[in-house]
Amino acid sequence: MSFTIAQAGEFVGQTVELRGWLYNLRKSGKILFPLFRDGTGILQGVVVKSQVSEELFARVRDLTQESSLVATGSVRAEPRAPGGFEMDVAGVEVLQRVPEADPYPITPKEHGVDFLMDHRHLWLRSTRQHAILRVRHEIVRAVRDYFDDHGFTLVDTPILTPAACEGTTSLFEVPYFDDDKAYLSQSGQLYNEATIMAFRKTYCFGPTFRAERSKTRRHLTEFWMVEPEMAFATLDDVMELAEDFLSFIARRVLERRRPELERLERDVTKLEKTEPPFPRISYDEAVERLKQKGSQIQWGGDLGGTDETLLSEDFDRPVLVHRYPAQVKAFYMQPDPARPEVALGVDVLAPEGYGEVIGGGQRIHDLDLLLRHIEEHKLPREAFEWYVDLRKYGSVPHAGFGMGIERCVAWMCGLEHVRETIAFPRMLYRLKP
Ligand code: 4AD
Ligand code: MG
Repeated sequence: MSFTIAQAGEFVGQTVELRGWLYNLRKSGKILFPLFRDGTGILQGVVVKSQVSEELFARVRDLTQESSLVATGSVRAEPRAPGGFEMDVAGVEVLQRVPEADPYPITPKEHGVDFLMDHRHLWLRSTRQHAILRVRHEIVRAVRDYFDDHGFTLVDTPILTPAACEGTTSLFEVPYFDDDKAYLSQSGQLYNEATIMAFRKTYCFGPTFRAERSKTRRHLTEFWMVEPEMAFATLDDVMELAEDFLSFIARRVLERRRPELERLERDVTKLEKTEPPFPRISYDEAVERLKQKGSQIQWGGDLGGTDETLLSEDFDRPVLVHRYPAQVKAFYMQPDPARPEVALGVDVLAPEGYGEVIGGGQRIHDLDLLLRHIEEHKLPREAFEWYVDLRKYGSVPHAGFGMGIERCVAWMCGLEHVRETIAFPRMLYRLKP
């Protein structure tokens, strides 16, 4: 078995070969403490001048940050070392030495965000970014496990689409197809509505695109969304699913990514509160609460980012806000039969000001009503013919939601901005690297 730092505990007392990079080097007189990383963790090496050859001591002393290398040595338990183990270094072979004249640009000192973002391809090597992307991976895995174990079939939906799902103002046009206008997908939902009529419960999970031109800490131009959809389901079913799903995700992250959360200095006691039941309030009540807190919001308007933050202050876990005014929601939303001016939709607002993580609700299943909404939203009927078909051939009440992975990661990790939640973020002012 070849050695990795993550498994250092299984190699105590053995001489191992560590293939990795020099993360950092501390020098303290006649002792050197090279910090090695190998992609699975960080391990501190120890080189004592009186115990090694002069040549080895000099080689380690002169190592440059991020040089690639193979270090040999024996592994020891050391409770005071980061990670709990240490390596007595007996040899180092340098694979590629980072030249002094062109040193690794990211040093342990503080750098500005723009600088770090320009060097995102390198920044990913830092322990903080490593921890964040490990949490992201765990969330993605939990998402798949959850739906796979709850009777959902994964049916992925196209990226190139002829129709807008979430309004025409944030569409990315792709000039390619001769006869049709094409756009990058804003959401797989419309296609999910077709696949549930074949599979009953489905989900799609992939990249989605919004040309929103917004520059907030919650918006990316390209983000990953998981979208479950269910036939014979209502708004209540969706609220129940969202609550159970988010609790599962939080529990999983707490269970499997403790060291990463610690590295991120996440207050886990806050995450531990993510347990049912989540509070549920109507949009009407949300507006009342916001007015009392000094917000300028009027009934009929959408909640802004600041409103979401204000509202979430009242709760220690996610809050479900349901029945928004139909006028601020998408064309496909089912109006409440008891009050047609509100839609049977729900947004789940994460606590601690992380904002909307989930949006969803019940879809229009009646043919005439859907046709009316397509017209009222001035959407091109031709592009929706296939979608309209679903209301002609065995239509049933159905519902679903979408969760943006990056917002969920930002919340779980306790991050200020979504830009660190994805390896290579795409934002209005960021297409590189
Ligand atoms: O609320 P949204 O726009 O809902 C939909 O797209 C529905 N069609 C989903 C469905 O019902 N199947 O987006 C859903 C979620 C938001 O709650 C948010 O988490 C995330 O997607 N999201 C974004 N994340 C990052 N950057 C953006 N620009 C985002 N826009 C939405
Ligand atoms: Mg939304």
